[in-house]
Amino acid sequence: MTPPVYMRAAVYRRYGPPEVVSVGDVLTPVPGPTDLLVRVRATTVTSADWRIRSLTVPRGFGLLSRLAFGITAPRQPILGSELAGDVVAIGASVTNFAVGDAVVASAGTKLGAHAEYCCIAADGVVVHKPAHLAYESAAALPFGGTTALDFFRRGELRSGHNLLINGASGTVGSAMLQVAVAAGAKVTAVCSGANAALMQYLGATRVVDYTTTDFAAEGIRYDLIADTVGNAPYPRARHALAPGGTLLAVVATLPEMLRAPWVGLTTNHRIVAGPAAERVDDLRTIVAMAAAGRFTPLIDRCLPLDEIVAAHARVESGRKRGSVVVTANSEQRTANGDDG
Ligand SMILES: NC(=O)c1ccc[n+]([C@@H]2O[C@H](COP(=O)([O-])OP(=O)(O)OC[C@H]3O[C@@H](n4cnc5c(N)ncnc54)[C@H](OP(=O)(O)O)[C@@H]3O)[C@@H](O)[C@H]2O)c1
Repeated sequence: MTPPVYMRAAVYRRYGPPEVVSVGDVLTPVPGPTDLLVRVRATTVTSADWRIRSLTVPRGFGLLSRLAFGITAPRQPILGSELAGDVVAIGASVTNFAVGDAVVASAGTKLGAHAEYCCIAADGVVVHKPAHLAYESAAALPFGGTTALDFFRRGELRSGHNLLINGASGTVGSAMLQVAVAAGAKVTAVCSGANAALMQYLGATRVVDYTTTDFAAEGIRYDLIADTVGNAPYPRARHALAPGGTLLAVVATLPEMLRAPWVGLTTNHRIVAGPAAERVDDLRTIVAMAAAGRFTPLIDRCLPLDEIVAAHARVESGRKRGSVVVTANSEQRTANGDDG
């Protein structure tokens, strides 16, 4: 099939609320010699899309974000960093993928997945999609899965570790929970009471409802604490860290990041912070776990591209349960969550 000259995409031309995004026709990207052109079957609106679209970033990152994504207006008008779809064209030098292959990929900070077609570097973070894995599930794997694996590698998670995850019901939190349980860790999940049963189903040994209980004041110590919310920086988390324990600051302000080496030098704790590296091997690992039924990407809801504003609004609520999936070519609407 020859890709059309124009495609439908969710486009935003200025930073702001969900309503700055609208669906329109744009030129279909043309793959370079080392690229794949993928027909997007499913993508997600991630918390990164929300942060970039609204420039809502942790303290200290405002200027850096504008430098990265556009000083006065977005440089890349199409958001979307993860996708699953079918390869419809390949560059002349591509040998590892063929037209017709089903793939799952991360576009990373190049973005562009909220569209009918997206170019992905063939040597980038892209792997074949197992046939029995639905496109909607596959699209929800890269962002949470690669973040979890990277933070656990840097934090040296081991079997038998006691781990607490703050924000365990989100995309990153639910990925961390399942990866940690598979690695033999004992996991305490922090979320609201409404998500407690789901956390236990995914393998949490204990759930702390943050609306009634402060995990840092319980007197329980953890080998690792993963903060995916941003309200458990070191001054709070240290009360619940065991001697030699590590804080995985998935969300951290710039001052907190800069202080991290000092904490490592002056206390018996360690802080792991900063952007997670996206590695193709990690994507391969998480896709294999999902294919084997050992990892279930949580899907909050699944909306068609035409409802992109609603998808952004749900992500911006901060209450999604796993990922908000967007299907580019379907009217389908399913959910395994509620309206929260
Ligand atoms: N460092 C990196 O490289 C990196 C990579 C990926 C993501 N991130 C960041 O990680 C963060 C998490 O991303 P995400 O996509 O997983 O977020 P998310 O899916 O939006 O997280 C939503 C979840 O957070 C829970 N939550 C909300 N308030 C809470 C609180 N006060 N205490 C505990 N849980 C709370 C909610 O549970 P309830 O509904 O039960 O309240 C909800 O399930 C984002 O800020 C993102 O920017 C960083």
